[in-house]
Amino acid sequence: MFQTARIDKADKTEFYRQLTQQLTGLLHGERDVIANAANTSALMFEMMPDLNWAGFYFLKSTDELVLGPFQGRTACVRIAVGRGVCGTAVEKGQSILVEDVHAFPGHIACDAASRSELVVPLSHKGEILGVIDLDSPIPSRFDADDQAGIEALADIFVAASY
Ligand code: SME
Repeated sequence: MFQTARIDKADKTEFYRQLTQQLTGLLHGERDVIANAANTSALMFEMMPDLNWAGFYFLKSTDELVLGPFQGRTACVRIAVGRGVCGTAVEKGQSILVEDVHAFPGHIACDAASRSELVVPLSHKGEILGVIDLDSPIPSRFDADDQAGIEALADIFVAASY
């Protein structure tokens, strides 16, 4: 069984170096997308401080995201491309860091406790497959280091699963 090791959270660069290493080990030898998304969600939720939601939405058609594996409270199932933070990240093809969800026009509140959010697209051969979505009850919980770290995790997930 895979053992998650404790990671020192004080140094973010070192934190994400170790987290990417752990994810690589966790997904090694497994190509099932659902299993890998479930374990990626669980690892992020367990290791990253101050999250209330961590999970995946997958593009099931050209215009709609559908809820995938996650940790946290029950969430909205379908998000149109262009709507909310997740749908906007897909439309723009780039990560979106939201310091204050109340200031983001069209933010979809799945959990009223959420105050800040980070959404990172999953890209494979130039195509967007879905997103990783992280929510926090702390305002401005995520910064550029978190964005870079989660983009690295997204790349590891895609390389292992597709
Ligand atoms: N807040 C997201 C919706 C998904 S939940 O946060 C899990 C959005 O605005 O797209």
